Amino acid sequence: MNIFATTERLILRTLLPTDIEGLFALDSDPEVHRYLGNKPTTTKEAAGAAIEFIRKQYLDNGIGRWAVIDKHTNDFIGWAGLKLVKEETNKHIDYYDLGYRLRKEYWGKGIATEAAKACLSYAFDTLNARVVYAIADCENTGSDKVLKKSGLRFIETFDLDGTPHHWYRIGKDEFMQG
Ligand SMILES: CC(C)(COP(=O)(O)OP(=O)(O)OC[C@H]1O[C@@H](n2cnc3c(N)ncnc32)[C@H](O)[C@@H]1OP(=O)(O)O)[C@@H](O)C(=O)NCCC(=O)NCCS
Repeated sequence: MNIFATTERLILRTLLPTDIEGLFALDSDPEVHRYLGNKPTTTKEAAGAAIEFIRKQYLDNGIGRWAVIDKHTNDFIGWAGLKLVKEETNKHIDYYDLGYRLRKEYWGKGIATEAAKACLSYAFDTLNARVVYAIADCENTGSDKVLKKSGLRFIETFDLDGTPHHWYRIGKDEFMQG
């Protein structure tokens, strides 16, 4: 298991097969999936498959979303991190996407922003990325706020599978200027 970052309240580490209960609790919640296409997970098998899918990305791409763990209780809060996007999205391809998904009981405490900032540090300092992008459903006000608080800039609205989404970006220069 690798720990990639620690922050004031969080540990960001490799997603493990043993995170299945936590991931199932996260992804079976309809409210969590409200702006993610409204298709919550219904089986633990699906949660296990999602973990394997991300662990394969670690091997194939050298990066993938990480587990977000409560530093003090060791509780599984959710996931956050970078994904190498290999399918064309809003006319971009082969770029790092910043994302996060937290269990509801942890919302509204600044945790997504704390995790997102640590992920951006890793992108620019360790992966030496030139730019990171992120997308959010236009109605996902919480996610919009997280992205802006983390230093990303709103660029435009685009259509993602029939739903309008916001497209955000942050360059390494902007991140360094902080
Ligand atoms: C979006 C999400 C990650 C935000 O996590 P969080 O830890 O609560 O975020 P933060 O506390 O860092 O910041 C959220 C901000 O948005 C605000 N906010 C949250 N939900 C909101 C809503 N429905 N309407 C308006 N503001 C909202 C919070 O009050 C907070 O505002 P503040 O900066 O003024 O304090 C979390 O709600 C989540 O996991 N949602 C489900 C998955 C998801 O949508 N992921 C993002 C996909 S793009």
